[in-house]
Amino acid sequence: MVEAFAVASGKGGTGKTTSTLALGMALAESYDVTVIDADTGMANILFHAGLNDIETTLHEVLAGDEPVEAAVYERFGMNVVPCGTSLAGFQEADPVELRDVVASLAEDTDIILLDSPAALDSRTAVLPVVLADRVIVVLQPTVPSLSDALKVQEYALTYGTDVAGVLFNRVTDDEAISQISEQAERYFEGELLGTVPETEHARAARRAGKPLIAHAPESAAAQQYRAAARSLDVKHGSSDAVADRFRSAVIPDHP
Ligand SMILES: Nc1ncnc2c1ncn2[C@@H]1O[C@H](COP(=O)(O)OP(=O)(O)O)[C@@H](O)[C@H]1O
Ligand SMILES: [Mg+2]
Repeated sequence: MVEAFAVASGKGGTGKTTSTLALGMALAESYDVTVIDADTGMANILFHAGLNDIETTLHEVLAGDEPVEAAVYERFGMNVVPCGTSLAGFQEADPVELRDVVASLAEDTDIILLDSPAALDSRTAVLPVVLADRVIVVLQPTVPSLSDALKVQEYALTYGTDVAGVLFNRVTDDEAISQISEQAERYFEGELLGTVPETEHARAARRAGKPLIAHAPESAAAQQYRAAARSLDVKHGSSDAVADRFRSAVIPDHP
């Protein structure tokens, strides 16, 4: 039984990767979780998960050179599938193969989290949002970030992907929080999953190569991620149905 979530934002730097790993660790307390770096052109899960030195990544799997199992690493209670960062690796990888990779991982896990590319401007970039059951929208409490997040939501809904909710990250003041709930309710489907503060713990965690929840488990940010994970209300579709959907999905030519 599995549910696949795309963690997406429309903009880089909002905290998708930070949030993917933090939510993944929180969910791993109750579920078997697989986190996939689907941001294959701008991968960075490996730096956030202390996997800098590994040889085999999603790039080699997408290039047809390695089986998917060779790129699955057990870290922090999750199965982590990192992607390489070299341009050559990206050029050799066939993005469309991601469908088969996710389909085969779906057969043996409870939750898949797809750390998604920022923009929705290429076939590679839209894959996670198109194929996931639900999208978790990560945004900062600023107008440009909100407007990009709305595009992600619109895109997801157009392709039949539901919105699990929105997660505000890098929130700096309390005043913003009341505005945030208002905006979340007015503009977005799904729940307000959490408001994660701007915190030095996030940067320190990345430097340490650890998910935020591993680095600062008692921090306010970690608590927000745990609460967000609880309110996701995971729905388990049949693994076969999810795998079939990924394998046979038609990827839009013109996103
Ligand atoms: N809540 C936060 N407070 C402070 N810095 C953060 C926070 N969330 C993320 N960051 C930092 O912002 C940068 C971008 O975060 P990242 O998760 O890589 O974003 P994305 O994957 O959306 O590009 C990283 O250096 C990260 O450590
Ligand atoms: Mg990222």
